[in-house]
Amino acid sequence: MTPSSSAAAQERLAVRLAQQDKVPAAVADAIRAVPRHLFVPERIRLGGRWLERSADPRAWLEAAYADQPLITQLDDGRPDGTGYISSSISKPSIVAEMLAYLQVGEGDRILEIGTGSGWNAALLCELAGEDDTATIEIDPDLHTRARAALASAGYAPETVFGDGLKGHPPGAPYDRIISTMAVQHVPWTWAEQLAEGGMLLTPWGTAYHNGVLVSLRPDPGGHSASGRFFGDAAFMWARSQRPPHGAVEDRVLPEHDYTETTTRLYPAEPLGDASFAIGLMLEDVKETIVWEDDVPGSDRFTVYLMDPHTGSWASWHADASRSRYPVRQHGPRLLFEELEAAHAWWTEAGRPDHTRFGLTLAPGGEQVPWLDDPNHPIPTLPRA
Ligand SMILES: C[S@@+](CC[C@H](N)C(=O)[O-])C[C@H]1O[C@@H](n2cnc3c(N)ncnc32)[C@H](O)[C@@H]1O
Repeated sequence: MTPSSSAAAQERLAVRLAQQDKVPAAVADAIRAVPRHLFVPERIRLGGRWLERSADPRAWLEAAYADQPLITQLDDGRPDGTGYISSSISKPSIVAEMLAYLQVGEGDRILEIGTGSGWNAALLCELAGEDDTATIEIDPDLHTRARAALASAGYAPETVFGDGLKGHPPGAPYDRIISTMAVQHVPWTWAEQLAEGGMLLTPWGTAYHNGVLVSLRPDPGGHSASGRFFGDAAFMWARSQRPPHGAVEDRVLPEHDYTETTTRLYPAEPLGDASFAIGLMLEDVKETIVWEDDVPGSDRFTVYLMDPHTGSWASWHADASRSRYPVRQHGPRLLFEELEAAHAWWTEAGRPDHTRFGLTLAPGGEQVPWLDDPNHPIPTLPRA
């Protein structure tokens, strides 16, 4: 790789992102200024395979400047895991969208949660200045590698090794807190560490639906923080907030008893915005789809729902040739009935998209999701 080939690739990426809706010149300039390849490890995972820089420098450089996330770590770095994706360099267009939303001004105090490769921290240094930027990472190897990458690119923000869910009190208050890991529960400590008029932005999701972005601002008096959902972004989870890993269908055992009914609700119906709303209402429920004969997109498939805490599961089989679909339910929670009730509520509410929903966070971390404004919390479903 020659310096000119990386500079040309870097320029192409900046030009492409500058054309993206709402990306201000300052963000495009930051992307233009930071050589992304300096933050890409020698070994990245692409299309289910590892790509070594030494084996194919051209493909590696192309990947470094493509608008795609690059997986950099599996299984928290353990060699014996199941292939769970635990770190990546985020997709440039999503990073640009988040930075545009954040409206960082020079001299703003910034905390980034989830340093990963350090690329986004370098962009924040460009926008706010390195003296006002701190970033925190829970993984010791990634923390060390990011520090070195930042130094090699000429940046020296405060790099902290620790649990970002606690924020970083020594540097507070922050004008902006940006998390680059998804949470199911926004920690109140983040809101506490915001300056007056500050903003926190984080990927957010439920076990059922990952994910969206949410930005919260402290309410007057600082006794709560609230804001709306937007965007479409599935980030990797904060380590301690991961939904249970593994296939839901593997928890369906032959010795389990179940009830069997039928429904007219087509199993592919609760996707997209419906699944976002269902996720808000169905606490801790994870869903997977298993395609018949392993053919994604086929009209024969089974949707599985599972609650890991009670062991309850439901399965729901689609077959386009029928008008009613068989449903099986096992365990103390009747998960399909809960899903049906959530879907009915969403339909009656006019099938709102996720940007009509928002979240209020209270001290102690209680989260209250609402529709249209904080005075309209979404109902809690009775457990079937
Ligand atoms: C999508 S990656 C971050 C991408 C990064 N900002 C970049 O520019 O490359 C998410 C990171 O969050 C880290 N992480 C997970 N849980 C964490 C926690 N509780 N505190 C801090 N970092 C955490 C992961 O180790 C991972 O590196």
